[in-house]
Amino acid sequence: SPLINVMVNAAYKAARGLVRDFGEVEQLQVSRKGVADFVSTADLKAEKVLKQELGKARPRFSFLMEESGATAAAAGGDQEPEGRWIVDPLDGTTNFLHGIPHFCISIGVEKAGEIVAGVIYEPVRDELFWAEKGAGAFLNDRRLRVSGRRNLNEALFATGIPFAGRPGHEKLLTEMAAVMKVSSGIRRFGAAALDLAYVAAGRYDGYWETGLNPWDIAAGIVIVKEAGGFVTTISGTGDPLDSGDILAANRELHAPLGKIVREA
Ligand code: IPD
Ligand code: CA
Ligand code: CA
Ligand code: CA
Repeated sequence: SPLINVMVNAAYKAARGLVRDFGEVEQLQVSRKGVADFVSTADLKAEKVLKQELGKARPRFSFLMEESGATAAAAGGDQEPEGRWIVDPLDGTTNFLHGIPHFCISIGVEKAGEIVAGVIYEPVRDELFWAEKGAGAFLNDRRLRVSGRRNLNEALFATGIPFAGRPGHEKLLTEMAAVMKVSSGIRRFGAAALDLAYVAAGRYDGYWETGLNPWDIAAGIVIVKEAGGFVTTISGTGDPLDSGDILAANRELHAPLGKIVREA
């Protein structure tokens, strides 16, 4: 669709800069936004390119981006924006800065409070995950489907680990112990958007994490749903975009994973 094309072209353009900078990570200026929360000139450049490209194509959409926050639509005056871009210009910054090739660009579109389209681009493997509500989810031009595994003991799950001392750190360690006991393993690859994309692709059977921001998960939510997966908060009530906690899995394992995590 035209909307997906806009998102894909913007992602490809911003990704070219990321890939160049990834080759020369030592040259980047890095600063710290908080404990173990880094931002580099690569994040900022990618965000600028995305904002320019997306804004040019859809001037009546507002923005929510990790580095520049919420900003108004360029056109439309006092009218309600026609949509909102929810963008993480570089998800997996820590990987990126360590030369680990697991990072991506994530672009979601929200209309009337609902995510209607998402693009997650992982430039190193050239994997483009995308979905539009009602039209299915894709990896490049191949249709995506969540995994069909039904048994916990065959399942591989992903999570994210809050930094020590942060809310949820101790609890997460307990949850991981409980999940490891019954599953075939856990991965912590360090890019929330790709964790969701991998659930959509059936690579992971499920994923849970707390303390996230809308730009980490907006695109991934619609991609997992369109791939046939279930996405909720960990408690099962409310919206992950508001609460920042998420539980995504295939239909069979969503409830069992949620139960283990909640009861840990
Ligand atoms: C981070 C990654 C990580 C998650 C963190 C996020 P960033 O995003 O998605 O996997 O555990 O909570 O902040 O800072 O690399 O864009
Ligand atoms: Ca960050
Ligand atoms: Ca992120
Ligand atoms: Ca980021």
